[in-house]
Amino acid sequence: MSATSPLQDMLDKTAVAYIHSEDAAVAKKIAAKWQLQYIGDANAAKQHPQLAFLLQVNCHQLELSKLDEPKLGAIKVDFVEGAVAHRRKFGGGRGQDIAKAIGLKHGFTPHVVDGTAGLGRDSFVLASLGCKVTMIERMPIVAALLEDGLERAKLNSDVGEIAENMSLLHTSSLENLDSAQAPDVIYLDPMYPHREKSAQVKKEMRIFQTLVGEDLDADGLLEPALALAKYRVVVKRPSYAPPLAGRKPSTSIKMKKNRFDVYVNRAIPKVES
Ligand SMILES: C[S@@+](CC[C@H](N)C(=O)[O-])C[C@H]1O[C@@H](n2cnc3c(N)ncnc32)[C@H](O)[C@@H]1O
Repeated sequence: MSATSPLQDMLDKTAVAYIHSEDAAVAKKIAAKWQLQYIGDANAAKQHPQLAFLLQVNCHQLELSKLDEPKLGAIKVDFVEGAVAHRRKFGGGRGQDIAKAIGLKHGFTPHVVDGTAGLGRDSFVLASLGCKVTMIERMPIVAALLEDGLERAKLNSDVGEIAENMSLLHTSSLENLDSAQAPDVIYLDPMYPHREKSAQVKKEMRIFQTLVGEDLDADGLLEPALALAKYRVVVKRPSYAPPLAGRKPSTSIKMKKNRFDVYVNRAIPKVES
């Protein structure tokens, strides 16, 4: 008897549903695309005790809820409102740390590959600063949320232009990083074990952590990234974590809880003003 992988186990515990029946066709399509079980009305989840997560279409938006912790609410990718939109308006533009780490301060707007896209927040910040961003996400449920958020953003007049600069590849960066052609910069933010007690971890993070787990193979990302990136590789790490693959960065930008480790391949060209 062959054991199922942790990813397959998670996919088997996730179903797609709708909250309002007018979203039934969309929900069915999403289930077929991502090869997930479709259960129709979200209330039917009660009849499927094996399920841990529900991907639900709610008023044309795809959300993920953790069935045994309904109080946590549902997570979705929203580039139009909420924290990401706030950061776009008030986050400090090219002066913010992620912009410095990527190298934007030189008036240079690179093509960035985000090799660990997650819910796309960092990618959106970079795209809103003018970068062309290719996002790579291997976890199908996360990729489904990301694709949905990206498609909705493309239809919005405030952020549509930014979203048009972003694309998504559903694959693993460990094997297929080079499917994103000739990136100037590669950005990596793999999951790392959290120190905070689970009650302190933000609700959204709690759902996300249970879903994705820890990216235990993350060290393997650094070498292919360094081989491919024209100018630099930037890795986001919690302050307490050792550098990725134990490799000392060229420089680090330290923040309160995190830092950006920057591995320089080649100096960023000076743009004449
Ligand atoms: C900490 S999250 C990234 C959060 C993201 N920076 C954001 O701003 O929303 C890490 C994500 O990387 C994905 N991931 C990890 N290793 C990967 C790989 N080798 N290829 C593609 N995706 C990967 C995980 O599935 C997870 O969704």
